[in-house]
Amino acid sequence: MDQSTIDQVSKTQQVSDNEARANLIVDPEVLSLDGDAVVSRVKPSSGEDKGAAEGKSSEGDMQHHIFNLSFSNRLSLAPISSSDLERKHFLDIGTGTGIWAVEFAKAHPEAQVLGFDISVCNPASKPNNTGFVIQDAESTPWPFTQKFYYIHGRAMMSCFNDAGKVICEAYEKLEPGGWLELQDVIAPWTDVDGSLLGSKLLEFHTNTIEAALSVGRDVKQVIKYPSLFVAAGFQEISEFHYQWPIGAWAKDEKLKKIGEMFRDDLDQTMEPIAERLFGLVKKMPRKEIDDLVREARRDLFDVKRIRGYMPGLVVYGRKPL
Ligand SMILES: C[S@@+](CC[C@H](N)C(=O)[O-])C[C@H]1O[C@@H](n2cnc3c(N)ncnc32)[C@H](O)[C@@H]1O
Repeated sequence: MDQSTIDQVSKTQQVSDNEARANLIVDPEVLSLDGDAVVSRVKPSSGEDKGAAEGKSSEGDMQHHIFNLSFSNRLSLAPISSSDLERKHFLDIGTGTGIWAVEFAKAHPEAQVLGFDISVCNPASKPNNTGFVIQDAESTPWPFTQKFYYIHGRAMMSCFNDAGKVICEAYEKLEPGGWLELQDVIAPWTDVDGSLLGSKLLEFHTNTIEAALSVGRDVKQVIKYPSLFVAAGFQEISEFHYQWPIGAWAKDEKLKKIGEMFRDDLDQTMEPIAERLFGLVKKMPRKEIDDLVREARRDLFDVKRIRGYMPGLVVYGRKPL
């Protein structure tokens, strides 16, 4: 995805959940042959619809590198220019290891970057223009006195009981003309040819969705982000859709690399996720967990049989001037 492709992302003031869903229908040929993720063009809506896997770890950093590859090393897709960066405040919600905030601060030494997380974040290397605090995104109002020019949140799909509350609070904390950008992944996983259906990989994934829901986390709520942006008052809302193949099956080299990295990330995280969600939450018997994880991990590498992918969505919008 090059700069011009990203620049083609269309803007709208009103988008709907149905439109977001329609954008998820991915042409298999696009995913297997085309080098870049799909850039959605969001049309103005017709009017009526105006719409725990929270690990902080090196796996999180692996995902950071996959995001970088997906977005051609752009840390943000919102149209902020270098003149916007001077002496402006930037905020990273659920900063994790702080890797995004640190890289953004290094790339823009003139910007002031604050990261917050529900648990402690203390990156080994911290540029002077960064700060990190503990804060629950759902505990509002956030105690920050400064207004932010740009607020970022990434991979927060399983973190909120009520994403709308967080989006509204971000709106409050933005200066007029400021941007909120949420970069996330969409559940459920899907495929290009029906090959995920009936697989242990999909069974594993379905179980994680169910377990998260049973503790109040609807990981499918990412699809509602566009309408939640509208409800909060954002304008100039844009969506960008991308995909992470599960495994190295894509023909395009970049997507193949993303697939390999995502497969390795899943290979390392499936067991701890299963321990937590299937063991502690779903109370599945030990043997059932072990069998499911083993067979799902085997599916990850079976690229001749299974061509699944995880859809992803970036939404950004602007607070009116
Ligand atoms: C999957 S990680 C993503 C980390 C980071 N955004 C990234 O992309 O590298 C989710 C992070 O959100 C944090 N988190 C979970 N619930 C939160 C909440 N209610 N408020 C703030 N942070 C939260 C977790 O501690 C974890 O560090």
